[in-house]
Amino acid sequence: MNLRRITLKNGADLDGFRKAVRWLIAEELAPQHVVFAIDDAPGLFGDEQAGDAAPVSLPKGVARLIEQVVCHHDPERYALLYQLVWRVLNGERDLLEVASDPLVHRIDLTARSVRRDLHKMHAFVRFRRLKGDNLERFAAWFEPEHFILEAAASFFIDRFRSMDWAILTPIGSMRWDRAMLIFGPPASREDAPGEDSFEEGWRGYYESVFNPARVNPTAMRAEMPKKYWRNLPETAAIPGLIQTAAQRVERMIEQEATMPAKRTPERALEAMWDQEPKSLKELNAIIAKAGPLVPGATQAVFGEGPAHAEIVFVGEQPGDQEDLQGRPFVGPAGKLLSKAMREAGIEREQAYLTNAVKHFKFEQRGHRRIHSKPTAGEVKHYRPWLMKELELVRPKLVVALGATAVLALSGKATPITRSRGRARFGAYEGYITVHPSYLLRLPDEATKREAYEAFLNDLRRIHDLAQADLDTGELPLAAE
Ligand code: URA
Repeated sequence: MNLRRITLKNGADLDGFRKAVRWLIAEELAPQHVVFAIDDAPGLFGDEQAGDAAPVSLPKGVARLIEQVVCHHDPERYALLYQLVWRVLNGERDLLEVASDPLVHRIDLTARSVRRDLHKMHAFVRFRRLKGDNLERFAAWFEPEHFILEAAASFFIDRFRSMDWAILTPIGSMRWDRAMLIFGPPASREDAPGEDSFEEGWRGYYESVFNPARVNPTAMRAEMPKKYWRNLPETAAIPGLIQTAAQRVERMIEQEATMPAKRTPERALEAMWDQEPKSLKELNAIIAKAGPLVPGATQAVFGEGPAHAEIVFVGEQPGDQEDLQGRPFVGPAGKLLSKAMREAGIEREQAYLTNAVKHFKFEQRGHRRIHSKPTAGEVKHYRPWLMKELELVRPKLVVALGATAVLALSGKATPITRSRGRARFGAYEGYITVHPSYLLRLPDEATKREAYEAFLNDLRRIHDLAQADLDTGELPLAAE
C-alpha cells in the first residue's frame, strides 16, 4: 500500500490533527501507512487532503494528552499520537495505564515537557508598560520551548482581563485588547519594551524577600532557568545577592535578636507616587496602575463604601470571588461578615470595607485558585496605600479583621487572642477582632456557633463605639 502523506501547519495544529485523525480512522489507515509532514502551506505539494469524517470517540486522558503533545516541537509528535490513537481504538483502550509501554512512556515525557513549559510561561511572563503611549498598554517578551502560545492564552486572559496586553515570542505573538484575542507573527526581543518604572518595584521587592541563608543556585536555576532571567526585572538582583549571600547570612545571624526594619519595596513604591492622591479615585488609579506585586490577580480590589464612612473595616486581601468581581467582601467570608453586621445593627452600605493587600494571591491547584496568605513584605508594600485610604476617609473607628489587618494597621505582628478588643492605630481609634474566614474554617458546629457569637459581640461593641463620643469615652450603651 502507498504511504499517505498528511501535512499539518507549523506550530500546534490541533484542529488539523483532529481532522486528519477522523479521516485516517474512517479510511482505516494504520500508522505504518501514514507519514505526517509539517509545512506552512498544507495541501500544496500533492499530499493527502483529509476530507470530512465523523468524530472519533477517545478516552478523556488520551484527548487531554493530544492537546498537550501537539504543542511539542518534536517533528514526530503527530506520528506518535496517531500510533497512540490507533492502538487505543484497536483493542488497547486502557493503553495509557501501561506506563512501561515505550510509546506511552515517550508520549508522557513529551506531554510533561509541554506542561513544564506552560508552567514557566505562566510564572515568568512580565508585562512592561509601553512608553509614549497615552493608552495603558503592556507587552511582555517570552521565549517558550514549545508551541504553547494558544494553550497559554486563557491563563493570561483570565488574570489580566482588564488590561490591554501583548505577549511577543519568537514563535508568534498574541494580543488581548480587553475584548478579543488576536494571534500575530513571530517577534524579536527588540520589539518588546525595555525597563519601565515598575521594574524597580519588582527588584526592590525581590531583594527584600530574598533569604540569603536559603541560597541554592542549582535549585534556583532548575526552577527558574537562566534563559528566563533576562526577562525578569527582579533577577537583575540575583547575581549580586548570591555573591554577597555568605556575608549577609553572617549579618542576619548577628542581627537576629533585633530583627530589623529591612529594606522594603516601600521606598521604590513611594518613588512612583508622582503625585499625592487627593481623592479615593486618584488613589485607586495609582493602585491599579502599579498592578499586582505577585502576578496572577485579575484586577486590584479597592475599598468600597461612603467616602467619609464612620467605620472602616480592614480585611486581609481579596479572595477568589472578590478578584473576579472587583469588589471587597463578596465571597463566602464577605457574606458571613454582612450577615453579622446586619445582626449587630451595622448597615454594610454605611461602612467602608477594604483590605490590607489589594490583590488576590493564590496557588493554582488544578482549576482551583487556593488563597495564599500575604507575606509581611507584601503587607508592607501595600501599607502606604492603606494609610492614605484612611487619611482620605477619616473614619471615627478602624476595625482590623484578623492578624494581617492588625499588622498592616499597627506595623506589628500581634496575635488576635492577645489584642482582641479596643485598640489604637496611630491617629485612629481602633478595634481588633477575628477575620470572618476564621469562623468558616472552624471544624465543628458548636465551636463555630460559639465563635460566631463572640464575633457578633465584637460587632455590637463596634456599633456602639461608632455612636459614642470617643473623646470623652462616653458610650451610649454601657458597652465598655
Ligand atoms: N477576605 C478578605 O480579607 N477580604 C475580602 O475582601 C474577602 C475575603
